[in-house]
This record gives sequence, structure tokens and C-alpha cells, in this order.
Amino acid sequence: MDKKKFYITTPIYYPSDKLHIGHTYCTVATDVMARYKRLQGYDVMFLTGVDEHGQKIQQKAEAKGVTPQQFVDEVVAGIKDLWKLMNISNDRFIRTTDDYHVESVQKIFKRLYEQGDIYKGTYKGKYCTPCESFWTETQLVDGKCPDCGREVIDAEEEAYFFRLSAYADRLVKYYEEHPDFLLPTSRLNEMVNNFIKPGLEDLCVSRTSFSWGIPVDFDPKHVVYVWVDALTNYITALGYENEKYNDFEKYWPADVHFVGKEIVRFHTIIWPAILMALDLPIPKRVFGHGWLLIDGGKMSKSFGNVVDPVILCRRYGVDALRYFLLREFPFGSDGSFTNEALINRINTDLANDLGNLVSRTVAMADKYFGGTLPEGREAEPVDDELLSMIKGLREKYEHEMESYAFQNALMEIFKIISRSNKYIDETAPWVLGKDPAKKDRLATVLYNLLEGIRVCAVLLTPFMPDTVVKIFDQIGASEEARGYETAAEFGVLPANVTVHRGETLFPRIDAKKELAELEAEEKAAKTPAAEEKKEEKEEIVLEPEIGIEDFGKVELRVAKILSCEKVPKAKKLYKIQLDDGMGGRQIVSGIAQYYTPEELIGKKIIVVANLKPAKLCGVESNGMLLAGNREDGSACVTFVDDSVPVGTRLH
Ligand code: MSP
Repeated sequence: MDKKKFYITTPIYYPSDKLHIGHTYCTVATDVMARYKRLQGYDVMFLTGVDEHGQKIQQKAEAKGVTPQQFVDEVVAGIKDLWKLMNISNDRFIRTTDDYHVESVQKIFKRLYEQGDIYKGTYKGKYCTPCESFWTETQLVDGKCPDCGREVIDAEEEAYFFRLSAYADRLVKYYEEHPDFLLPTSRLNEMVNNFIKPGLEDLCVSRTSFSWGIPVDFDPKHVVYVWVDALTNYITALGYENEKYNDFEKYWPADVHFVGKEIVRFHTIIWPAILMALDLPIPKRVFGHGWLLIDGGKMSKSFGNVVDPVILCRRYGVDALRYFLLREFPFGSDGSFTNEALINRINTDLANDLGNLVSRTVAMADKYFGGTLPEGREAEPVDDELLSMIKGLREKYEHEMESYAFQNALMEIFKIISRSNKYIDETAPWVLGKDPAKKDRLATVLYNLLEGIRVCAVLLTPFMPDTVVKIFDQIGASEEARGYETAAEFGVLPANVTVHRGETLFPRIDAKKELAELEAEEKAAKTPAAEEKKEEKEEIVLEPEIGIEDFGKVELRVAKILSCEKVPKAKKLYKIQLDDGMGGRQIVSGIAQYYTPEELIGKKIIVVANLKPAKLCGVESNGMLLAGNREDGSACVTFVDDSVPVGTRLH
């Protein structure tokens, strides 16, 4: 008989910034679910990948002086390394620059155009460049992007549109008929009330203002705009409209898409509408998980508050981090990440409870029986509670796992672990060990403990795949005794099981010392100097040569700083008033962390005087001052001798 199929996906990640612990959270959760389903015997397809097109990538590549393809190739290699480190068991990895994906997207776009679901029009709207999102006036928060809080710009251009508005009724009907389509269910009300009820607008699905995207083959000045390119990855990676793969029929519709809460609307409105237009089944479920927060805010490279999973893995091990991420935070809600919580969790749950239980049990079997238990048994009523808990664990665990309640599933397992530690205190094996008449009783106690550990280890397999192998080896569990089926049974280990003492699973951490060291390491890794060093090239590479006529276009003039004040809510920015010899001007500069106003006022500097005005955090800047970076990454302003008059042009 064919195995049951399970198709699960993560979002495809933007390779514009280095991935942080928030991205890792989503991927680890998906990995746990995929491993759980494999453990149950499903034929699993686990897809992850990268979302490589868009203006932001193009800009980053330009800033680095490389082509967008070179830029993404380098970053994607790093992302793959991170997933390898985190023990992510994805079956496929899609890049939206892969030829087969490009081919499929072009075919999908053309088909939707030919059947009238995509049409040509003019787009006028508010656009957030970093998020690559168009917003309507009503969706803006204080006039800014509702996702990232940054400035939006007015955009108007010829564009193709997807007739999303035509699908509103069908979407609502679909939600009503499939109340479990979006979990947690609270997010569904948000979709209906905030997006569908106010009226769905047609969706802009092409751009002409940048070129790093999949060209619309019948109108090549357009590139396909991000969501049609990105969302279709879930079907192109199975071979929809391409020859690369051949298992679309087998795996589609997806059993679940795991996505962060801010992209739920794309997955539950735009994606089903596109699928309806293509006459394809809708995914069975979308789960919108919460964010990992730091100091109450979303972790993000641009806010400088990201946590690097690589540092944490190196210090505490991959399994400890995987366990922490899913044990600490309820999957559907936001959670605050702190190093203290991580270290505490490792010490209490992993070192004290789990690690101790395994090492004590194995050590006692070793000490009292030379590692091999005798077959005689002597049960007592005190065993009953522990045994019935062990026998009932798999059912409870499965219930929680099927609802994506990873935290609860782990809590159920750890109830057995704590109960087992208490059982050791109640039965006092060290007392039994002194009395030769209690040999059978002692063997019974140890066997019960070993069976409890075994069942817990089976169910921990998706969360801590490497650790459980060490546990199985220590408790002498055969291959069969590691399977999911056996987790519902008691008495699977042979009566005369042989244990093998092994390494300490999770050494206890000296929290105070460790925190200080960890914070120092994280800080050092975050200094601009460290980042620059990492990216440093062996030789200095100059920009392409320019002629004197190009340089002549840049007006560098001497100006004097008259006043200097912090821009509200922007840690790094100063608003600076200058005497430029031309009636004065205001500039905004990111040097607030490196100079006090007193160190600047009265000094003469060089400004690029004919730079187009720009707004930084809502404050207008008319030019920029010249500055460099010191070795430690801090900014160093170029000051000019006081004898040079303000307004002097530099050549
Ligand atoms: N490229 C789009 C997704 C397209 S899917 C067809 C995208 N990429 S992303 O790299 O910005 O985000 C990928 C995932 O990481 C999202 O689900 C997002 O919610 C998640 N996370 C990013 N930061 C996060 C936290 N701080 N906490 C938890 N998850 C976070 O969106």
C-alpha cells in the first residue's frame, strides 16, 4: 500500500540580509513537523528555499558592485550552510532564479493574462521599497508602511494587475467551508475584517522600474512582481508547468504552509485566489506563527537587534537551541527572546531533568548490575502512576503535535521526565542496592526508568535528532525500539537489557559567567568593523573610473556646524544645521553614536552640496557630510581647518 503523503513548506527567505534566529525559528518548527510525520511513516516532502528577486536585492548588489546573481549566489550558499548546521531535513530547496521556476512562472503569468485574470493598467499607490509592498492609503499606519514602519513613496507606472477583487466572495465561502484552513483561527478574523471586508483591490503583479525579476515574456519591459513569483514556488518545486520535477500530482495540495504572521495575508488571500484562477486545489492549511521579539520589537537587521543562531549553536549545541525555540514560545504567539531564558531552559530542562535522569539511570544499572539487568521482576504500587503516564504519553503528544502545539507536546514529555526523577527519590535505588534480597525490585525500578526514557526519546526525535541517538545508545535500545509504534507500548526493551555509559548529554552552564561571555561575543560580532572585516576583500577594488567632467558634477563645499540635535526615535541620526555660505541648510547624518553635539558644534566639515534632498526618518536632509570609518567601525567625520572660509568649493 502507498504511504500517506505529507507536503510541508517554509516561506522562501529573502537573501537580502543574513538570516537570524527568527528565520531559524520558522525553519526549525517546519523541520520538527516534517520529522514527526516521517517518524509516523508518512512520505514527506519538505520544501524550503529563497526568494531572490526584487528591487532590494538589485540595490544591494549595486551597492556591493556585483551583479544581482553574484550577490544572491553568495548569500544562498550561507543560507544552505545554516540549514545544514541546524540539522534541517528539507527534501528540496528552491531558488526563484532556478530556470525551471522561471519557466513555470512565465507560463502561469501568460495563462492568467490570456484568460483575463491578469490585465494591463496603471498603478498609482504607496510603495514600501524595503518590503516590496504596495499599500492602500487606509492600510498605512501614521502614513508609514504598516509592516516595517518606514517611509512609503508615491508610485505610478504601467503595470499588470491580477483580478484579486473578483475572488473575494469565493475566498470568504472557502473560509466558511474550511474553518481550519488558517490557524490559529484568530488570524482568520483579521483577514476577513481588515482585508476582505473593506474591499479587495486588484493586485499589481508586474514592475517596470527595476529589472531584477522574471521577465514577462510577452512584454519584456515588465518583470513579474514579487508575490506571483514567490508564492508559486510551492507548486513549481513539484514540477507544475516544468519538466524538472514530476510529483505535483503526488503532493499537491500542500498539507500545511508554515508562515510568519505578517505574510499570512499573502498566503490566505492572494495565494488561494491565484490557485482558484489556475483551477488548482487550495492548500489544506496555513499556520501563521508568531514572531521572536527582542526588547518588545521584531528582530530585524535594520534595527540592529538580531540574534545569530550560529553563535548559539557553537556554544550550546544545535539540539539545545532547537529544543529551546519550540519549548519556550507557544507557536502561534509572539515570544521574547533572551539569552537568560535560553541558558535557564538548558540548565533546568536539559541538564538537570533530562540529562540527569539518563545519566543516573544508566550509572545505576552499571553500578549495581555491571550494565546488564537481571530478568527477575518485583512490581510495587508506587510504580503504577509512572507506568500509566508512560503508556498514555504518545496519545497526548500526538494530539498536541497534530495541533502544531509543539510547546505542549514537549511539556507532556517533560512531565514524564520529572515524574521519573521523583520516582528515583521515592524508590531510593541506592538503598535497594545495599540489600541482596531486593535485587529483583531494583531491576524493576531501573527497567521502568529505562522504558520511560526510551518512550520520551522516541517522541523527542523530531526535536533533538542527534541527542536521542546518544540516549538510545546509552539505554541499549535496538533499532526497532526507536520507532514511533513502540512509543505507545511499555516493555519493549528486553528484560536483560544492557546499557552503555556515555558522555554527559548537556553539561550544566555557569549562567552568570556564560551570559557575560556570550554577550561579549555577540557584541563583538555585531560591530560594523567585524562585519566589514568579514566582507573585506583581499585588495581594495576601485569603482569604475570616471572622467574629470563626472567629478566636476559633485559640489564639495566647506560648511560650519551651527547646531546639532538627535532625531526623535532614531538612535543614530543627528539633525544638523549648517552655515554653508549660501544662506544655511539642514542635513541629517548617522553619526549620533560617535559624537556628542558639543564635539561637533563650531567645527567645519565638507558637505556634498548638490545632492538631491532626501528624507531620513521623516526629516529632510539637503546634502551629506563626508566621513569615514575607523578600524573599530565607528564613524570619523572629516573636519576642515578653521582658516578655510565657509562656502569654499573643494576641487
Ligand atoms: N520572501 C518572503 C516570503 C515569501 S513566501 C512565498 C519573506 N521572506 S523573509 O525572509 O522576510 O521572511 C521569511 C520568514 O521568516 C517569514 O515567515 C517571517 O515571518 C519569518 N521571520 C522573520 N523574522 C522573524 C522573527 N523575528 N520571528 C519569527 N519569524 C520571523 O517574507
